[in-house]
Amino acid sequence: MTESLPPHDVVTQAVEYLRARLPARPAVGIILGSGLGSFAERPPILAAIPYADIPGFPVCSVEGHAGRLVLTEREGACVAILQGRAHRYEGVALATVTHPVAVLAALGVRTLIVTCAAGSLDEAEAGTLMLIEDHLNLMGDNPLMRTGPAKGAPAGRSGIRVSGFVEMAQAYDPALLEIAEQVAGASGLSIRRGVLAAVAGPTYETAAEAEMLRRLGAQAVSMSVVPEVIVARALKLRVLGLALITNRSGAALDGRVGHPQVVAVAESRADSVAALLDGLLRRLASA
Ligand code: HPA
Repeated sequence: MTESLPPHDVVTQAVEYLRARLPARPAVGIILGSGLGSFAERPPILAAIPYADIPGFPVCSVEGHAGRLVLTEREGACVAILQGRAHRYEGVALATVTHPVAVLAALGVRTLIVTCAAGSLDEAEAGTLMLIEDHLNLMGDNPLMRTGPAKGAPAGRSGIRVSGFVEMAQAYDPALLEIAEQVAGASGLSIRRGVLAAVAGPTYETAAEAEMLRRLGAQAVSMSVVPEVIVARALKLRVLGLALITNRSGAALDGRVGHPQVVAVAESRADSVAALLDGLLRRLASA
């Protein structure tokens, strides 16, 4: 239905569709990564809409990604939770992967919290929480890339009208990083900061690739988040990124490395992630 429309019109369509169905306007958006979806299951659920029903939204095919938008009110904040995401390695163009971010921004969201599972590139153990303080986009693609010449084609593929170049310095809001550290400290959660490298996947890294990423300055690697952050920053959203370390990148864990392990580790830390998110929402609502 939406395939033949220019991308910007699909954003408008999705916003109209959601405005008619959401009982309140979200100010905060949260994207839940692999195994972290349970945060969206807790009441109150004010609305829950499958991605398949929202114009332009990608369908999630990976285990651990429910694929629905949940509207909730937590800690005094009205929050749109994206329970799962699509990935480049599923054959989904980055413009489509990030379409939900453009829609959240058009709905009025001003702060976006992105979460993901990630492999560690140093000694961090599975279960470690890492605040993303910067990223390396090594996906070989960018969601803001235009498909045609700029003349007569004001919208990029994502339907975002970007003029010129988009600044990515301090993409991860320094004030939000500090707040997240304070919230973690108050909840007794240990948390670190680090640089996240994003790769296209779907292969996990070889030992040599993990070494390369380490030498490039990354502490963790994932196959998501970064395209969403690029679009969010192009739309001037404040961004906080949280990576949950689920394995060592480049290491074979007795043959157990793989998506089921990633999901199991993420699920085992879901309560800590929820405590952190709740604390953050409390602080955001009172700001
Ligand atoms: N590499 C890339 N992405 C990941 C990993 C990894 O080791 N673990 C979870 N997501």
